Amino acid sequence: MDQLLADTARRASAYLTGIQTRRANPNAEAVSALSVFRELMPSGPAEPEAVLQMLDEVGSPATTAMAGPRFFGFVIGGALPASLAANWLATAWDQNPGLHLASPVACELEDVSLGWLLDLLGLPLDCAGSFVTGATMANFTALAAARNAVLRRVNWNVEADGLFGAPAITVVTGQEAHPSVFKALGMLGLGRERVIRVPVDAEGRMRAACFPVIQGPAIVCLQAGNVNSGAFDPAAEIIPLARKAGAWVHVDGAFGLWAAASPQLAHLVRAFAAADSWATDAHKWLNVPYDSGLAFVRDESALRAAMSISAAYLPQGDNREPSNYTPELSRRARGVDIWAALKSLGRSGVAAMVERNCAAARLFADGLVAAGFHILNEVVLNQVVVSFGADEANEAVVRGVLADGTCWCGRTVWQGRTAMRISVSSWRTTTEDVHLSLVAIIRVAREVLRAA
Ligand SMILES: Cc1ncc(COP(=O)(O)O)c(C=O)c1O
Repeated sequence: MDQLLADTARRASAYLTGIQTRRANPNAEAVSALSVFRELMPSGPAEPEAVLQMLDEVGSPATTAMAGPRFFGFVIGGALPASLAANWLATAWDQNPGLHLASPVACELEDVSLGWLLDLLGLPLDCAGSFVTGATMANFTALAAARNAVLRRVNWNVEADGLFGAPAITVVTGQEAHPSVFKALGMLGLGRERVIRVPVDAEGRMRAACFPVIQGPAIVCLQAGNVNSGAFDPAAEIIPLARKAGAWVHVDGAFGLWAAASPQLAHLVRAFAAADSWATDAHKWLNVPYDSGLAFVRDESALRAAMSISAAYLPQGDNREPSNYTPELSRRARGVDIWAALKSLGRSGVAAMVERNCAAARLFADGLVAAGFHILNEVVLNQVVVSFGADEANEAVVRGVLADGTCWCGRTVWQGRTAMRISVSSWRTTTEDVHLSLVAIIRVAREVLRAA
């Protein structure tokens, strides 16, 4: 075991050194070499060292450099050194944090992290929290609590009796809500299609003037950080309207909620603190390893009612029992790498990381404008949407950028136009990485436009 783990650490370390300079995506040769994995089920054992050797020699070159400094696709953070190392140690511990009795250390670190997170994100300190896989499950978890609470107010116990025959729940989202919200609503029996979708402005923000008149059990889903533009719904205007109607207000703040950690940016998100529940990711802007999402719920009893579990063989003590707050019973100890990230960065370190990424996004936008291209969003956070011309030109530039390999940027459709997205979310990205990437993107774009 000793030698195996030392060898693995050496391999991982070499991988992370190489990622600074290698292509952002794997080349075709590395991807086609993956066919080596397609063997019949092995008839007998193999030496662990040989297993790791194959994984590294065939697998590592075929990875996308998401942990590297020039990956700007989707919204993907890297893994901070302390957090990655803590994740390894926690994997060696192999703790199941479902119950305090089963793993005091994993539960304690969840508790501590939860308190720190609420403080850092400017949320009520007595919120209940849930450590889940990502923002999709965080939306699901918080919306399950919302569903439970709004039906309980009309004397319907959805946990006991299900949804058949229950009073209808009105669900309101912005037209630009993230698809994971609709997925969560579908999984919860609230339907993806029966949602009232409020029209949005050019940045994807809900238009408060179009907020519908609602009554009866209702859930309003706001967004803090649009996946394309980074824009924030007008929470200060909408939350009072929703409150007046007695609705539960949920916030999808997968990455945008982290603006609260920066004194420069906290104003963007302050009004969202008046909501009832929030979903966010730690694997995005806190830069912990996958997977790691968080749900926070103001009314502890609502989350607990939706998620609690009990059985004679699952002893519950006076401590917070995590499995009463999460969809899962058994899961990995996500609190460990979150604790390590927060402990290693501190309040100032998280703020600096968020601000550095936002400054890098502005640098991208300025560089692209100076080169004659169009930025389609107000760059308020870490997201840039750029157009190089007609839809086909944008498709070709995205393909060209991926073929070039200096950096990784994705395609999107924004306000009806095909465009390229740049999301700066990694602790590793430096100004030098932005310059290198800008040079590559501008070169590729000019080649594409010249050839058209
Ligand atoms: C606003 C928003 N909500 C939800 C999600 C889903 O997050 P996850 O992939 O962690 O489930 C994302 C992902 O980018 C997002 O940007």
